[in-house]
Amino acid sequence: MSSNKVSKSTITDELTQKVISLCQRRAILFANSDIYGSAAGFFDYGPYGVELKKRIENSWWKTFVQSREDIVGIDGSIITSPRVWVASGHVAAFNDPLVDCLKCKSRHRADTLVEDELKISVDGFSLDKLGELIKEHKIVCQKCGGELSVARKFNLMFSTHIGAVADESSIAYLRPETAQLMFADFRIVQQAMRKKLPFGIAQIGKAFRNEIAPRNFVFRCREFSQMEIEFFIHPKLVNSCPLLSKEILEKKVQMITAIEQGKGKDGLMETMTIGDALKNKVIKTQWHGYWLITCLEWLYSLGITPANLRLREHVKTELSHYSVETWDIEYKYPWGWKELQGIANRTDFDLSQHQKESGKDLTYFDEESHERVIPHVIEPSIGVDRVFFTVLLDAYRENASDKGSTSTLALHPELSPVQVAIFPLMKKDGLAEKGRAVFEMLRNEFVCEYDESGSIGKRYARQDEVGTPFCITVDYDSLEKDDVTIRERDSGNQKRVPISKLKEVIECSFGEYCALHGGKK
Ligand code: GAP
Repeated sequence: MSSNKVSKSTITDELTQKVISLCQRRAILFANSDIYGSAAGFFDYGPYGVELKKRIENSWWKTFVQSREDIVGIDGSIITSPRVWVASGHVAAFNDPLVDCLKCKSRHRADTLVEDELKISVDGFSLDKLGELIKEHKIVCQKCGGELSVARKFNLMFSTHIGAVADESSIAYLRPETAQLMFADFRIVQQAMRKKLPFGIAQIGKAFRNEIAPRNFVFRCREFSQMEIEFFIHPKLVNSCPLLSKEILEKKVQMITAIEQGKGKDGLMETMTIGDALKNKVIKTQWHGYWLITCLEWLYSLGITPANLRLREHVKTELSHYSVETWDIEYKYPWGWKELQGIANRTDFDLSQHQKESGKDLTYFDEESHERVIPHVIEPSIGVDRVFFTVLLDAYRENASDKGSTSTLALHPELSPVQVAIFPLMKKDGLAEKGRAVFEMLRNEFVCEYDESGSIGKRYARQDEVGTPFCITVDYDSLEKDDVTIRERDSGNQKRVPISKLKEVIECSFGEYCALHGGKK
């Protein structure tokens, strides 16, 4: 069993190491069942982590499902009929390139090995090309220096068996993406909800991939959660999106096209409006353009720095078997620009495949043209854990002082695991009772934590580390004047506020933050 400790050794940059160490120290997110030396690629969220993770999921669900009339949600099963994965192409084509060490028998992902050793991007390189590079540059096993086998395909699906008999006929798979159920359930959901095209089906749930080389903490792990939308569109109207307002068309984004990457100019970005990108056919269809900007805007609303996000088009050889055009939203990670979200044009591939495999009619009757069509699909797909980690990397700040250095997570207040912390200056003289009364008053409105141990400085530092935006101190003046000191995390500013006005003041500060940085308040 490979260990999480081994995969951490691949992390060389300081920021990533600091964020991982903060996650472990404060039990935010850590290796699964570590007391047994956990398998690589499995993680557990602790009390602060689960709070932040749920907030990310809730924000996504609110934005893309509850606030829209054209998207409905489902929550499907993790194990489904294996025929789903035959139809989707995952049994045949969900592979990564693998090489074996002929000496120590360890296995490596060929593309990441080449990237690590040659410091180049190999997005879209074929199995043969990777094999050639390994041979040409005499790349050897990273563990023992042994010679490597030829590169071959490795299927990433975890398999299991249904029922008491484990044979070929009972084989089943843990889903490698949540997407397929939105296709398999398309008909029942569309009819029951009386949805007309265009409309989407969304889902948040677990996905499993037996990654050859899980790495960079939860960036690439083996069990993770996805938030996916399959947005169904009349096949003749993929390039006609009524939601593309003038405001959206004028939004500028950083992007790198397939053509630029084809010229070998990896990293040459342009800043373009979505309108120009569509006019010049850089982005081929209007609905794709709409979803790219809509997904970017949601990431901005989480407080992620816009300059650290860009769009990158997949080069032809990199496209998944189901896609005719894919754009990734990439984040500038300490280890380079990498995929945070994928937004693919899956055409009618999946519905057609499921119609063929199941023999069931998955067409849609278009009342205007009186014809039956198989809808086309734009699919925004993003991993919860990857968003989680990205948010932490983007929000991590270090505060140096003569007493040493402490850290702060400058999280959007809507995401912070604790929104308000309440400290009595001392436990005695009625201060603890007053502090508890403030805590009880606020805890129905915000996620609050009461802390009476250690110096006030230490208590501030503890809350800064987990990104608490507001800390309230109850002191001797509070007993007389019925007011408290409220301290704002990012500026360190403190002001006295009457207890009766606390809720209003905190809500107002939330609003000010959102006005400045984006968000929902
Ligand atoms: N349904 C399409 C699909 O699954 P994908 O690009 O393979 O496409 C979508 O995955 C998103 O899921 C990625 O952009 C990433 O955020 C997340 N993801 C994929 N593999 C992951 C892994 N091994 N660990 C963590 N997140 C992952």
